[in-house]
Amino acid sequence: MKSLVILGSTGSIGRQTLDVVRAFPDEFKITGLAAGGNTTLLARQVQEFHPEFISIGEPNDKTFTAAISGRLSGKKPELVCMEEMVAQTGVDAVVVATTGVAGILPTLTAIDAGKEIVLANKEVLVMAGRIVMEKARVKGVPILPMDSEHSAVWQCLWGENASGDTASNVSRLILTASGGPFHGYSKEELTGVTREDALHHPTWKMGKKITIDSATLFNKGIEIIEAHWLFGIPYSDIDVIIHPESIIHSMVEFRDGSIKAQLGSPDMRIPIQLALTYPRRLPNPGLPHLDFNTVKSLSFKNPDVDKFPCLRLAREAGLRGGTFPAAVSAADEIAVDLFLAGKIGFTDIPALLEKVLDSHKGIAVPGLDDIMEADAWARRQTFNLAAVSAC
Ligand SMILES: NC(=O)c1ccc[n+]([C@@H]2O[C@H](COP(=O)([O-])OP(=O)(O)OC[C@H]3O[C@@H](n4cnc5c(N)ncnc54)[C@H](OP(=O)(O)O)[C@@H]3O)[C@@H](O)[C@H]2O)c1
Repeated sequence: MKSLVILGSTGSIGRQTLDVVRAFPDEFKITGLAAGGNTTLLARQVQEFHPEFISIGEPNDKTFTAAISGRLSGKKPELVCMEEMVAQTGVDAVVVATTGVAGILPTLTAIDAGKEIVLANKEVLVMAGRIVMEKARVKGVPILPMDSEHSAVWQCLWGENASGDTASNVSRLILTASGGPFHGYSKEELTGVTREDALHHPTWKMGKKITIDSATLFNKGIEIIEAHWLFGIPYSDIDVIIHPESIIHSMVEFRDGSIKAQLGSPDMRIPIQLALTYPRRLPNPGLPHLDFNTVKSLSFKNPDVDKFPCLRLAREAGLRGGTFPAAVSAADEIAVDLFLAGKIGFTDIPALLEKVLDSHKGIAVPGLDDIMEADAWARRQTFNLAAVSAC
C-alpha cells in the first residue's frame, strides 16, 4: 500500500484526490491530511480516512484545534505542522494541492526526506522552480505532475529523449488552453465582466483562484514557467494554443515534425490517478471515457495577448527569471483576491501585475529567503497600487 499525505485535502484537487483514493482501498493509505481553515470538511475526511496526522493552517490557534476535536470521535489524529507531517517515516508520497506560497516549505522538506512529490500547486515551481528541481535532482526524488497540461506533456515524453541538449528529440511543447469564459470577448466587453461571469468556467470545475486565473490566462502563463522547470525546456520552445473543447490536454512536437497529443475527458481525476498509480494505468469505473461521437470539433486559435496581457506578463516574468516569477505570482494572488472581493475590475488585474513587475528590483539567483521577501514585497506593492488607483 502506498502511504499518502495530502496537503490541501479540502480543496478541489484534494477532494478529487480522495475520490481516487476511495476507488482503490487496497492501493492507498492516508497517513496525513492538511487543510487551511475548513475544519468541518477536514473532520469528515478524518472520520472516513483515519489519518495519523492532521494539519490546519493556523495550528496554534486554539479555536481551530477545539473546532476539529469537537467533531471527531474515536482515536484522534495528531495535530502537527505540514513540514512535520510530510517527513514522517512511512510516508511514501506527498500530494501538494494547497494554493499559493503555503506549499513551498513542505515540498522542500518532503524532498529532503526523500518522499515522492505529486505536484498540483503551481506556485511551488513558479516561485522556487530552480531550488525545488535542483534539490529533487540531488536527492533523486521524482516530481510527478498532476496538472492536466503537464501530465499530458509528461505522457507524450515517455520513451523520448527530452534531454534539453542537441540530442533531444523535442522541438517544442504546445500547452493547450480552453480560453476561459471570455474567449472571443472584445476589450470593452472585458472591462464590464463580473466576478460571477469569471467564476463560470466553460469546461473545468476548479478552485476560485485558478478559475479566475484561467479567465485572465495568467494560469496558462504560469504553466509555461512550470513546464520550463519540470521538463527543462527553454521558454522559446514552449507555445500556447487556445483549444476551447479541452479534449487535447497538451502536445509535444518532435524534431522530425511529428506531434504527440494526449486526449481525454476534461476530468482532473484522470491525471490525478495517473500521478498516484504511475507507471500503472488502473481501470476506474468512476472516470469518464471520451465518446468521439459527442466531440463535434477540435478547434485551435492563437491566444490574444493584447486582450489577455496576463499570459504575456507571466511569460515575461519567467524569462526575466530570479525573483520576477515570485513577484508576479504574489501580485496575482492579491489582485485576484481584490477582484473576488469586488474592489477592482477584471482588467485591473493585468494592469496591477504590469506595474508590480515594472517596479520590482529582481535578484537574479535568489535563495529561498529572497523569494519569500519578493513575495511579501509584491503583496504590499499590489495592495498599495490598488489603493492609489482607487483614490
Ligand atoms: N483545481 C484544479 O483543477 C487544478 C488543476 C491544476 C492545478 N491546480 C493547482 O492546484 C492547487 C490547488 O488548487 P485548488 O483548485 O484545489 O484550490 P482550492 O480549491 O482553493 O483548495 C486549496 C486548498 O489549499 C488549502 N490551503 C490554503 N491555504 C493553506 C495553508 N496555509 N495551509 C494548509 N492548507 C491550505 C485549502 O484549505 P481550506 O479549504 O481548508 O481553506 C484547500 O484545501 C493550486 O495551486 C492550483 O493552481 C488546480
